Amino acid sequence: PRLVVLISGRGRNLQAIVDATRSGRLRAEVALVLSNRSDAAGLDYARAAGIPTQVIRHQDHADRASFDAQMLAVIEPLQPALVVLAGFMRILTLPFIRALQGRLVNIHPSLLPLYPGLNTHARALQAGDAEHGASVHWVTEELDGGPVIAQGRVRIEPGDTPETLGQRVLEQVEVRLYPEVLQQLLTEPAAR
Ligand code: GRF
Repeated sequence: PRLVVLISGRGRNLQAIVDATRSGRLRAEVALVLSNRSDAAGLDYARAAGIPTQVIRHQDHADRASFDAQMLAVIEPLQPALVVLAGFMRILTLPFIRALQGRLVNIHPSLLPLYPGLNTHARALQAGDAEHGASVHWVTEELDGGPVIAQGRVRIEPGDTPETLGQRVLEQVEVRLYPEVLQQLLTEPAAR
């Protein structure tokens, strides 16, 4: 089965996914890495890994609908089993979400429904939470609000900063959880 991965930045989740396809832990092929930013470092990684890449700059589009329509025109012919948001930092329109219903997933760095949106690590620290983590969820029109598929937790340690906590969430949760969940979704048609 084919995956299309959407990025905007460093692509640490993309790297974890590609590594998992290479090691056989994730029996799928990353058919395309799509970015809305030409300077996304994840593109360099994809190119070095021999994975097709494409940049669709949101600045080149008058509105979200037109940007999303072009992304869809690129994605749909590939008929991916899953479209994977991995550090993708654009809010998607309803037509895009509807067109990919049941195939569109995201990873969010919090224990949803806690802390949808940005600055999740700082907010968890501010709240004095004992735990934090990441959630893989179906994408719906509600930002970071779709049904949660799986979560991973870490303890918040004394002296944690948003950076140290974010790094722990990424290293101990995200890079393991996402490939695992994607493989599960490919093998069992989970509730979509
Ligand atoms: C990570 O915090 C991830 O949870 C969120 O985007 C951030 C950067 O991810 N989805 P990446 O390094 O671009 O994969």
